[in-house]
Amino acid sequence: MKNKQDTLGFSTRAIHHGYDPQDHHGALIPPIYLSATFAFPTAEYGAGCFAGEQTGHFYTRISNPTLALLESRMATLENGEAAVAFSSGMGAIAATFWTLLRPGDEIIVSQTLYGCTFALLHHGIGEFGIKVRHVDLSNLAALREALCPQTRMIYFETPANPTLQMVDIAAVAEIAHQQPGITVVVDNTYCTPYLQRPLEMGADVVVHSATKYLSGHGDITAGITVTSHALAQRIRLQGLKDLTGAVLSPQDAFLLMRGLKTLALRMDRHCGNAQVIAEALQAHPAVESVTYPGLPSFAQYDLAARQMKLPGGMIAFELKGGIDTGRRFMNALKLFSRAVSLGDAESLAQHPASMTHSAYTPQERAHHGISEGLVRLSVGLEDVADLLADVQQALATCVKHAPVAKPFQLEAHAK
Ligand SMILES: Cc1ncc(COP(=O)(O)O)c(C=O)c1O
Repeated sequence: MKNKQDTLGFSTRAIHHGYDPQDHHGALIPPIYLSATFAFPTAEYGAGCFAGEQTGHFYTRISNPTLALLESRMATLENGEAAVAFSSGMGAIAATFWTLLRPGDEIIVSQTLYGCTFALLHHGIGEFGIKVRHVDLSNLAALREALCPQTRMIYFETPANPTLQMVDIAAVAEIAHQQPGITVVVDNTYCTPYLQRPLEMGADVVVHSATKYLSGHGDITAGITVTSHALAQRIRLQGLKDLTGAVLSPQDAFLLMRGLKTLALRMDRHCGNAQVIAEALQAHPAVESVTYPGLPSFAQYDLAARQMKLPGGMIAFELKGGIDTGRRFMNALKLFSRAVSLGDAESLAQHPASMTHSAYTPQERAHHGISEGLVRLSVGLEDVADLLADVQQALATCVKHAPVAKPFQLEAHAK
């Protein structure tokens, strides 16, 4: 096994890290180990595995060679020591929470989170004696004020799903680490390690929905946690093995590794396409507001430029006329699919208030900054001219129906 390849470039590691064909009959592509269990050479060896005295694979819910290769690749790409693979992003998040939090602890979370993470906090761990506190983490004074001796974790997405609000990872980590016993956990799903590496900025744990950009083709659900050796071992032996059992299948680990090989190429294209679509939306008279980290009008443009390599493939926007116009826009789309999830080759449009963020009540959405009219786009890998034409023809239907103050100029961003 070629293990220490950490000086190689991002894509080289995404393609080669941890695998030497000569250890596998020359097979260029890593084999998939489907076995659920692994035979012990002796009874004593088996006992040693269970006692933690032997390394090696003995049951796939705990470890498996295919999963181990994926985990070592994710660890190097995030610049962490170790990773644990899960059957979904929610599996990774739940296993991390259940391992690290106990009744009486407090968790500080950012204002806006993916709907099921919000539900896990408020209808899951929150009901088992863990206090959940939402804080605007872009306000560092508010964070300092919210910290208390019971605080054990600070958890956030940056940029957040769906508002794209950002958090300064280094600043939050610095404040958190002034008090012992606080783990800073970042959901890096929107960025992937190609755009942003939170561990290098002081975070302790990174979690991912690998269902999205990491796998990239919308054909698996998967999750990843990346952290130190010690924490990963705890999360594996408690959160994965006993508390959730949310193990990734070896076939899906294989598909995820296949996705990683093209991650950098795909992210460059997602970001380039999204920039064009965001600019076209912003210039259109039917559009009320556009939120995209690559637009100078983005409230945290400087932070985005500093913290992310590129502005990402996700756009949030509102049309004049709110959700009624938003639905008209979505129904008029011909190339974008009306679908939740993100990070696929296919471009997707969805309405967070009635879809991904419907676990929030309307009052909670209002409180957490998710407006009812917000439309979320995951800009895919198609030819940008085709995407632009689709968005513009859908916007044209909104202009026809909604009263508009400004003259209608469809051609301005057609190139
Ligand atoms: C930011 C974010 N985190 C976590 C998840 C959960 O991941 P999964 O659907 O793979 O369980 C999602 C899903 O959309 C997400 O958008």
